[in-house]
Amino acid sequence: MEIIAFANQKGGVGKTTTAITLAAGLGQKGYRTLLVDLDPQGHVAFALGFEKKPAPYQLICLEAPLKSLVIPARPNLDILPSNKLSEKVKRHITLSDFRETILLDIFKKTSYDYILLDLAPSLDVLHVNGLVASDWVVIPTRLDAMAVDGVKEVLLTMGEISKRSHSFKGYFILPTFFERITKETLTQFQEIVQAFGSNVWPPIPRDTRVRESSAYGKTPWEYTPHSPAICGYESKRGRIGGYAQVLEHLLEVTNG
Ligand SMILES: Nc1ncnc2c1ncn2[C@@H]1O[C@H](COP(=O)(O)OP(=O)(O)OP(=O)(O)O)[C@@H](O)[C@H]1O
Ligand SMILES: [Mg+2]
Repeated sequence: MEIIAFANQKGGVGKTTTAITLAAGLGQKGYRTLLVDLDPQGHVAFALGFEKKPAPYQLICLEAPLKSLVIPARPNLDILPSNKLSEKVKRHITLSDFRETILLDIFKKTSYDYILLDLAPSLDVLHVNGLVASDWVVIPTRLDAMAVDGVKEVLLTMGEISKRSHSFKGYFILPTFFERITKETLTQFQEIVQAFGSNVWPPIPRDTRVRESSAYGKTPWEYTPHSPAICGYESKRGRIGGYAQVLEHLLEVTNG
C-alpha cells in the first residue's frame, strides 16, 4: 500500500483536482484506491457528484469503522467524504492521546493499493496527521512569484515530522495552471526546476474544462479526456505534461 498526500498551504493551487484526477486514474488502471478528503470544504465528494458528509468526524471522533463510511464513487475508487464538521476533528485530535498517528493506524488496517489524501490549505493537526500517514507528498503549485516559498513551507513541515521518527519515501512538485506562452510561467518553471531538480514533475496546463468537469460531478478523464490538462501540450519533443503523463510517473515511482 502506498499513501500519498497532496499538500500546499497556499489555497487554490490544484490539490483537490490533482488528488481526484490521479485517484480516478489509478482506479481506472485497476488499483484499489481510496481518496480521503481531510478538508472541511468537502470538495472531493462534490466534484465526483456526491453529497458532502462528515466521514472524518465519524471516523476519528465517533470511531465508526472506515468501511461503513466510504462511498464507492467509481470502479476501484472509494472516497471518504468530508464536510465542515471536520473542523471538530481538529479539536478531538488535539485532546486525544494518540495525536499524530490516528489516521495512519486506521489506514494500516485496510487493503487498498493506494490511499490518496486531499489536505486543506492550512497547517493544523488534521494536516499533520495526514502527512504523518503518508509515504509520499505531492506538492501542487502555481507558477507565480510565491511558488518556491509555498513549496519550501511544505518541505519545512515534512522536515519537522521526519525529526519525530516518521520517514517519507519522497516528495514531488507538480506545477499546475501552466501557461506555455506566458513569460511569468516559464521563468517560474525554470526557477522551480533550478531549486528542486528532478523532484519537479511535468506541468499540468491551465484548462478551463477542468473546472467545468467538477461542476458536472465528473472527473477530467470522463468529461474532457482529450484536453490539455489530461494529454499535456505538443512540443518539439512530443507531448509534455498533463495528468496522463503524471499518472505514469506516479506509478513508476511507487512501483519501483
Ligand atoms: N489545470 C487547471 N486549469 C484550470 N482550472 C483548474 C485547473 N486545476 C484546477 N482548476 C480549478 O481551479 C480551482 C482550484 O483548484 P483546486 O480546488 O483543485 O485547488 P486546491 O488547491 O484544492 O484549493 P484549496 O486550497 O481551496 O483546497 C478549482 O475551481 C478547479 O476546478
Ligand atoms: Mg482543495
